[in-house]
Amino acid sequence: MTLIDARNLPRHVGIVMDGNGRWAELRGRPRTAGHRAGSHAVRRIVRVARRLGIEQLTLYAFSEQNWGRPDDEVDALMLLLQEFLVSERDEILDNGIHLRAVGNTRKLPVYVREALDELSARSAANHRMVLSLALSYGGREEIAEAARALATQVRDGTLRPEDITEASFRPLIPSVSLGDPDLLIRTGGELRISNFLLWGAAYAELHFTRCLWPDFTADDLYEAVASYQGRQRRFGLVPFVRPFSRLAEPAEPTAI
Ligand code: IPE
Ligand code: IPE
Ligand code: MG
Repeated sequence: MTLIDARNLPRHVGIVMDGNGRWAELRGRPRTAGHRAGSHAVRRIVRVARRLGIEQLTLYAFSEQNWGRPDDEVDALMLLLQEFLVSERDEILDNGIHLRAVGNTRKLPVYVREALDELSARSAANHRMVLSLALSYGGREEIAEAARALATQVRDGTLRPEDITEASFRPLIPSVSLGDPDLLIRTGGELRISNFLLWGAAYAELHFTRCLWPDFTADDLYEAVASYQGRQRRFGLVPFVRPFSRLAEPAEPTAI
């Protein structure tokens, strides 16, 4: 049983959903079987995150670099993505979830883009949870695009180079437009970020687990959230000391 404090949830959770290929290899099956099992885990975790009250979930579904994988694997991933967008449409709409994509979606096949655009438009007014799918996404690419937009403003005479600050980038980085990630989870055992949410992850709490993505369950998410809640975030400052009156308030952990 994992105890979670409902008052101290990470508002924005990002997940590097890694380990599908190894999950399949362990079972002597093709990598695409791992991706299919991974898509079931996506359905499960979206539901759990929404019930838990997480405001934003950003899932790394396909990186810019993943285009370099064998064609049949890329094709299978695109089909699974389209299937997900169609089969989860009602669940997403009925549960007040706003689905959007971050990344270079222009590179996606038309049949995926159509499903994505349709669900993004239909769910745009929902506000129970924002589900961002990082598709054809790269953190460096996202920063480079923001730099390009700023350079264009300088060229057009609407911005002076000396006025460019960290804050100038923020509105041009779609993955943080609704807030920085608080908790970044990576499954599959690798201890790296692999070009995910580079700008936003500056002060994210990191949680790595050896669990392969298709095996990731509600309990694994609760464990990551509990680990987050045990950390002290300082943002480069000195430890925060609660005022005396606040100490009187007992914490109310919720049993899951
Ligand atoms: C993550 O699983 C899914 C995608 C990158 C699309 P992998 O396919 O990277 O699985 P492993 O890391 O090879 O096990
Ligand atoms: C990161 O996993 C990308 C996604 C989960 C979509 P990768 O498997 O592509 O990353 P590396 O190759 O281990 O760094
Ligand atoms: Mg991998």
